[in-house]
Amino acid sequence: MLHNKVIVVAGGCGLIGKAVVKNIRSKGGSCINFDAAVEGNLDDCLLKCDISNYDSVKQSIGEVAARFGKIDGLVNCAYPRTKDFSGGFDEISVESWTKNVDLQLNSVFYTCLEALKIMKKQKAGSVVNFGSIYGVVGNDFNIYDNTDMRPHAAYTAIKGGVINFTRYLASYFGKFCIRANCVSPGGVFDNQNPIFVEQYSKKCPLGRMAKPEEIAPVVSFLLSDEASYITGHNLMVDGGWCAV
Ligand SMILES: NC(=O)c1ccc[n+]([C@@H]2O[C@H](COP(=O)([O-])OP(=O)(O)OC[C@H]3O[C@@H](n4cnc5c(N)ncnc54)[C@H](O)[C@@H]3O)[C@@H](O)[C@H]2O)c1
Repeated sequence: MLHNKVIVVAGGCGLIGKAVVKNIRSKGGSCINFDAAVEGNLDDCLLKCDISNYDSVKQSIGEVAARFGKIDGLVNCAYPRTKDFSGGFDEISVESWTKNVDLQLNSVFYTCLEALKIMKKQKAGSVVNFGSIYGVVGNDFNIYDNTDMRPHAAYTAIKGGVINFTRYLASYFGKFCIRANCVSPGGVFDNQNPIFVEQYSKKCPLGRMAKPEEIAPVVSFLLSDEASYITGHNLMVDGGWCAV
């Protein structure tokens, strides 16, 4: 499905990113993992890249293009965030809001900017950005009752921004045969507070949280030629969360 495709995955060491990298490789793709948390080199298809730093992105994309001669796919699956990325609306500082928008939204622009320069020359490519249910609907705060979990308001703004930015990319780059889509997962199980897991599951039509392995094949599909007429789409992988 992805044979001969060179695909950059930002955040490939994360909860979802690991499954994405594995799935791409299982389908024959050459996957280069950009992550800030690792040391690596192109022989191992692993580059230490801070996607919130434009120069770091420019250098890493340049290295991939020089080595492989092309970039067929870009997946933005990193999740840079501040240590204080939680709290009720009244507790959020201006600094925290600003920094998280910079880390999470501007970084998507940086990777797209550099990868799309190459895709435009090729007249081919596929971008998959990560949205979320919270880029589409507001939070149901009931699911956090009796836990200390407090979603940060900037997340909804960032994910809504990523989803609509992706539509812009689809529109702008369509004439260059480049597709841009979003994958928007619901909550992925990661040993969260059992009270939260139960409350989340009760509200979700499929009655449970997602597994990373359920998100990854959707990304591979959108990267592949099987999705050749799909662009500007936001594919919900949310167990029906946004359907009710
Ligand atoms: N986990 C969920 O429930 C869920 C739900 C909906 C959407 N999402 C979205 O899916 C994406 C991945 O989420 P996740 O849960 O796998 O996150 P995660 O925190 O498990 O992993 C994120 C990865 O990004 C890397 N990273 C952080 N800062 C970076 C930087 N500056 N440069 C490069 N890499 C950096 C980390 O090292 C890590 O490997 C995010 O966009 C997130 O918003 C997650």
